[in-house]
Amino acid sequence: MNNFIYEIPTKVYFGENQLQGNLSQEIKKYGNRVLLVYGGGSIKKIGLYQKIIKELQEANIEVYEFSGIEPNPRHTSINKAIQICKENSIDTILAVGGGSVIDSSKLISTGRYYDGDAWDFVIGKIQIKKAMPIITVVTLAATGSEMNGTAVISNMDTKYKKSIKSSLVIPKVSFLDPTITYSVNKYQTACGSCDILSHILETYFSRNNGLYMLDTVMEGLMKTVIKYSKIAYNDPENYEARANLMWASSWAINGFARIDRQPNIWVCHLLEHQLSAFYDITHGLGLAILTPRYLRYTLNENTVDRYYSFGVNVLDIDASLPKMEVAEKSIKCLEKLFYEDLELINNLSDLNIDDRYFQEMANRICSNGIVEGFIDMDKEDIVKIFKDCL
Ligand code: NZQ
Ligand code: ZN
Repeated sequence: MNNFIYEIPTKVYFGENQLQGNLSQEIKKYGNRVLLVYGGGSIKKIGLYQKIIKELQEANIEVYEFSGIEPNPRHTSINKAIQICKENSIDTILAVGGGSVIDSSKLISTGRYYDGDAWDFVIGKIQIKKAMPIITVVTLAATGSEMNGTAVISNMDTKYKKSIKSSLVIPKVSFLDPTITYSVNKYQTACGSCDILSHILETYFSRNNGLYMLDTVMEGLMKTVIKYSKIAYNDPENYEARANLMWASSWAINGFARIDRQPNIWVCHLLEHQLSAFYDITHGLGLAILTPRYLRYTLNENTVDRYYSFGVNVLDIDASLPKMEVAEKSIKCLEKLFYEDLELINNLSDLNIDDRYFQEMANRICSNGIVEGFIDMDKEDIVKIFKDCL
């Protein structure tokens, strides 16, 4: 295993009723002029917006707002929010929402110190050197953005969706209250759960022999997501289910699980980001369609051991069966979870997606020739996986 340095600077308040008093106290550590960033209005419907505004007003914190962050957030919205920060000398960002809002806040927090287009950061024209502190209130368990330094941003003009990463934009404080996620609808609960699971699968199904300790932690996390996604889907106000999903989502992608596997290429995510870029589909849905196909494509005599461990340790498949049979059954179990238990669409054709951009998507993914995923893949492999999803 490789040497590593591990640091998560995010302070987490987990559980019900943690906002009152603590939110304003934490914000005041960083400043007094806050930009509240949120999405399309779900936080108003559930009364969270009102609660937060009251708390901040009582603490004499000056609040400015930017709303309307889209799922698959656009750089154009981010540029507008940056303008508000500059005009009003904002010193702290309060992101209240899911991954789209939190990711946007990361780019806003650094774009505030730059005079060009925020997209320049995403394409690497300019490096992140400074960022405002970010505090989050998470409303959807999925991306884990509340505890990492990644932001995934879309440019709908050029049809690119890309991620950037910097430790400077890792949230300082995150509030995780499972009851806030009670209002997440069935579809987003299903998509969020598939995303959490995918974050672990992408690392678990990698070619490195990682730490046994991490493998067993990942297996526990996957069992947790599989068990509680179904419960939350059918019983949205089940605290235990929402709490387990929420904490699993943070730990799936805060760097802990993949620490000894660098570089660790997340192939399904590369493919899905192309689908979202071209067709604006929900991230978790794209992953649910791609993952079983990808796992079937990469299954062979050399990789089968990983599938066997997954099947036996996570899905409780009979260990005495031949390894290939366990592998095949494992993929079928995932399909059952995604398409039957969580009732997600199982193919791209039903989303009106055809093969016209597959080659271009594969060219973008394989710009360096091959992708070193669980197995080496070239453009033709990528196109085949996309076609298999139709
Ligand atoms: O916009 P509002 O009205 O708030 O509604 C949102 C949105 O329509 C709704 N929602 C959120 N919390 C709710 C709620 N509805 C009712 N009650 C609540 N409590 O859910 C919808 C989706 O929200 P969004 O933030 O887009 O979802 P998610 O958290 O899944 O974020 C997806 C984005 O994150 C990126 C994805 O690519 C995508 O752009 N990712 C970010 C990652 C990261 N930063 O580490 C990693 C991931 O792999 C992923 O790529
Ligand atoms: Zn994801």
